[in-house]
Amino acid sequence: MQSVADRLHPDVAGIAVVGQAAESCDCKQARMTEISSILQGGYHTNLSRQWQAERQLTKGAIMYPLFMTDSDDECSPIASLPNQKRWGVKKVIPMVEELVKRGLRSVIIFGVPLKDGVKDAVASKADDQNGPVISTIRALKARWPTLFIACDVCLCEYTSHGHCGVLHEDGSLNQPKSVARIAQVALNYALAGADCVAPSDMNDGRVRAIKQSLMHHNLAHRVLLMSYAAKFAGCLYGPFRDAAGSAPEFGDRKCYQLPPGARGLADRAIRRDLDEGADIIMVKPSSAYLDIIADASRISNVPIATYQVSGEFAMIHAAAEKGVFDLRAMVEQTMDGLLRAGARIIISYFTPELLTWIDEGNGPLA
Ligand code: PBG
Ligand code: ZN
Repeated sequence: MQSVADRLHPDVAGIAVVGQAAESCDCKQARMTEISSILQGGYHTNLSRQWQAERQLTKGAIMYPLFMTDSDDECSPIASLPNQKRWGVKKVIPMVEELVKRGLRSVIIFGVPLKDGVKDAVASKADDQNGPVISTIRALKARWPTLFIACDVCLCEYTSHGHCGVLHEDGSLNQPKSVARIAQVALNYALAGADCVAPSDMNDGRVRAIKQSLMHHNLAHRVLLMSYAAKFAGCLYGPFRDAAGSAPEFGDRKCYQLPPGARGLADRAIRRDLDEGADIIMVKPSSAYLDIIADASRISNVPIATYQVSGEFAMIHAAAEKGVFDLRAMVEQTMDGLLRAGARIIISYFTPELLTWIDEGNGPLA
């Protein structure tokens, strides 16, 4: 046990006597310092430091991405994403079981078709009834009816050219055809039992098309539409594209994902998607876009999600391995930042670790 004097900062050790009644207030420092200068009393303990945050991370706030592939027994590591795997529908169940026991509430499914001949120009197999996404929705819902299941909706995993829509001859996105196909895929995920469809393709007008299609099929009242509204282009999706085999064959995504400096466009995209019926607005990537998260939470009256993407995840792992910082300390610092900026839902590959750390943080006397 430390003595009281040992616990005091050397500057004050000679002045304050903790645990003893003061005889008189003749402290020179106390008389010279303005009351408004003194902040530290508010965060001297672990618990009072926690109280300084407006929002605490809860298990319900985190959503775990699952890469689902088309052979049932697959369980293969992804070189660029430490601890993440490509799962077959049989193998994923025991893994999710373990996380559900530890408090997992939601997942987001990505389809990773690996079989030959699956891809074509119009992503015909994106909503295959026996494909990885629909099989996984059914298997997870049968096992855990209340596990919240979101599905990423995009075409890039299923198109031969690797772009996120149907293309014109010149390689640019064909908006009407892309939007029609995206809406059809979203509808089929919803019909299979998804709780949430989340278009990540960035085709103009897809949120409206999806909402209308859900309305026409009497699903709009029970399927949540989460729009990747402010999704920025950049260098942080590389490990995901490795994992999902969805890198574009030619060109890049700069003509549909937002330019990284574009705060104004993000504002317009957020307002547009709200008008078109988005129930959740997502900002992606996360840590480099805290201002956009803050803008989104101010502009909109729906919950804000953010996606701590594959490149952010890989970067934190790489730096921790190099000894730049402790992994957990860095992950928790990013979570504090995202919550502080206004995020209520955080999609993160760190979900398994976070479930454990949340328990530890809420434990007895810390
Ligand atoms: C599909 C999609 C991507 C991500 C989510 N949905 C890749 C992309 O846009 O190229 C990125 C997720 C991540 O990097 O973790 N369009
Ligand atoms: Zn895509």
